[in-house]
Amino acid sequence: MNQPTAPNSVRDAASWQAVGIARQHESAELHVLGQATYTDDIPELQGTLHAALGLSAKAHANIKRIDLAPVRASNGVVAVYTAADIVGTNDCGPIIHDDPILSAGEVLYVGQPIFIVVADTHDNARRAARRAVIDYEELPTILTPQEAKAAQSYVLPPMQLKRGDFQTAFDLAPRVVKGKLFVGGQEQFYLEGQIAYAIPKEDQGMLVQCSTQHPSEMQHVVAHALGVHSHKVQVECRRMGGGFGGKESQSALWAAAAGIAAARLKRPVKLRADRDDDMLVTGKRHCFYYEYEVGYDDNGKILAAKVDMTLRAGYSADLSGPVATRAVCHFDNTYYLSDVEILAGCGKTNTQSNTAFRGFGGPQGAIAIEYIIDDIARNLGRDALDIRRVNFYGTTSRNITPYGQEIVDNVIGALTADLERSSEYRTRRAAIDAFNQTSPVLKKGLALTPVKFGIAFNVTHLNQAGALVHVYVDGSVLVNHGGTEMGQGINTKVMQVVAHELGVSMENLRVTATDTSKVSNTSATAASTGADLNGKAAQDAARQIRERLTAHAIKLYGADDGQPVRFQDNAVHVNGHVVPFPELVQKAYLARVQLWSDGFYATPGLHWDPKTMSGHPFSYYAYGAAVSEVVVDTLTGEWKLLRADALYDAGRSLNPAIDIGQVEGAFIQGMGWLTTEQLWWNGAGKLMTHAPSTYKIPGISDCPEDLRVTLYRNDNVEDSIHRSKAVGEPPLLLPFSVFFAIRDAISSVGGHRVNPPLNAPATSEEILRAVSIVELGV
Ligand code: MTE
Ligand code: MOS
Repeated sequence: MNQPTAPNSVRDAASWQAVGIARQHESAELHVLGQATYTDDIPELQGTLHAALGLSAKAHANIKRIDLAPVRASNGVVAVYTAADIVGTNDCGPIIHDDPILSAGEVLYVGQPIFIVVADTHDNARRAARRAVIDYEELPTILTPQEAKAAQSYVLPPMQLKRGDFQTAFDLAPRVVKGKLFVGGQEQFYLEGQIAYAIPKEDQGMLVQCSTQHPSEMQHVVAHALGVHSHKVQVECRRMGGGFGGKESQSALWAAAAGIAAARLKRPVKLRADRDDDMLVTGKRHCFYYEYEVGYDDNGKILAAKVDMTLRAGYSADLSGPVATRAVCHFDNTYYLSDVEILAGCGKTNTQSNTAFRGFGGPQGAIAIEYIIDDIARNLGRDALDIRRVNFYGTTSRNITPYGQEIVDNVIGALTADLERSSEYRTRRAAIDAFNQTSPVLKKGLALTPVKFGIAFNVTHLNQAGALVHVYVDGSVLVNHGGTEMGQGINTKVMQVVAHELGVSMENLRVTATDTSKVSNTSATAASTGADLNGKAAQDAARQIRERLTAHAIKLYGADDGQPVRFQDNAVHVNGHVVPFPELVQKAYLARVQLWSDGFYATPGLHWDPKTMSGHPFSYYAYGAAVSEVVVDTLTGEWKLLRADALYDAGRSLNPAIDIGQVEGAFIQGMGWLTTEQLWWNGAGKLMTHAPSTYKIPGISDCPEDLRVTLYRNDNVEDSIHRSKAVGEPPLLLPFSVFFAIRDAISSVGGHRVNPPLNAPATSEEILRAVSIVELGV
């Protein structure tokens, strides 16, 4: 979809003014002043009530009897609703409809909602929710992915992707490695918890203010639950205080519950999850259990690879299918695998229904091959970077992925070489070896890990977006698009695109809340595609307005063939005249020229066959690499990240300041996933790490003193928005380098002769366990 510049209308090189430059986040000042409105800050309407959810105390049980009288009698309670009170469909599953809003008799995990209680205040509702008396008949449980695999308990049919002939290649390989790995899940830990505020409107209408990455999905779920058409439900989200994938589908429960109560009571109802409830109820990043078998040669070149991954899907499918698909499509990471078998099973367990989290299965797929390469390097007594390089995708051959997409934009070789040089990888490796020789307790480790990440939704039809741009008669511009703002800066980038298109300054623009009544049938802001898709749609809308203004300017001032009409610096340059933008807009209005436009974009060239797991699912790839250096105390398992260098390919960055911020944030978040953030369920299936007191996300003191993030200049070969590349998720894979640096430090205890069996998260306990196994092994 090449979008040609309008005839007679250009912005010359000097007016490359709004995109490609560092701009602060459009809400930065509101954020720091505490004036940015989140859902809970919206002034409450008179008569607003507050809801809370009554949760299951059992991981798997039939509800024999439930006594809600004590709940109803509790202070301030106005109403209590169960599954029987849902007029429409009792379901909030995004793809497969196996996800009841309220349990209708069987409970499938600790924390599953059973009833909604509505009271005069938030606290009264929460207190009342605990007063239910429930008799359970307990049933057997499956809690871990290993148990699910043994029981063949899956939420979806297992997937497989095969290329070549793994078994023959494996049997012929001179060397083999086999192993198992467990990588834990991760809580999204958005700072603003799940929240929805439902306001009844006339004629069965419902307005839902909701912290969500997917307003259109919320609209559908609420409409189904209420038994009304979508046009009766409007969902609005100005911004989220973080989503990280956790508000893609999992905001639906809260939106639906608030909507159900508001519809029944005909009063506004707010449902704000307390942090513990939020963590107990909602799904997280999937933990993965892997079994792998790989054949390789004396140079470390992989000849055959097989991985069998089992995800903890939880009690329902939610987004586990797409997450597993992305894991399958990212097992290759930056490596050409000729003969390969990739299996993935979404284990059905009696736990929260796991969901999207930054990277969406991509990180879990790619970390397995990195672990394998790390094994191979140690087995061969070589630096892992050399083994990585031997296996890198080629640029003209060895460049077809296992799912059949040809890679045409591979820069991993050059990017890695740049980083190896700028991080002084080899010198530091020698220095670390020398340090470890003389340091018996503190051991240092170093690792460089690469990333390749496919950009686009695997499901082709989701790759579309819409926008609406209004130019008012005073020359100010209002932009609306289908993407949602969660802190990642999508609105800033879209504003830059529109400002660029119209040649006006950012101060002339505003972006309003995402609203299902403005742009319809939107996709989730997810898969890092937000700015790619909505930027293009907004550009399309702005371009149409510019074209009309151009035509009108020529009508008023005449055309000069040698000098086309230019939009820059808040003015329109036409045939020797410099007309202020508002002046031309005024004149166009009086001449009855349409000053607003919609815009649309659909990513071209994509196709995907889920049955064969093949096609061209991604528009392009984003690349990156990072080097991390750690020091580990081998007596306590404590460690510190001393320095990290990250190089990321944001294409021709729309906004380097925002992109660097995204890389930094993703790096630290990914580091937390792989090191300190441990989710722990007790034997009865209750998540015990349901608050920051027991669940450790990185703090400022965990950030390395020396963190060097650089963007790799590399114009997108695809016609993406101004040749930029997505940045939201891929950098989450960069801190693999932290995990493998820790593994390197542990392995030095045994003179690098034994592969430390290190699972993630590499907590201090896990590090000590690995150290003791390495010590026993030598
Ligand atoms: N950055 C911030 N500050 N907050 C977030 O919630 N979510 C991430 C990423 N960066 C997130 C974030 C995830 S999971 C995705 S998919 C992308 O942002 C979505 O936004 P984009 O597509 O506009 O990059
Ligand atoms: Mo991001 S996990 O695709 O919301």
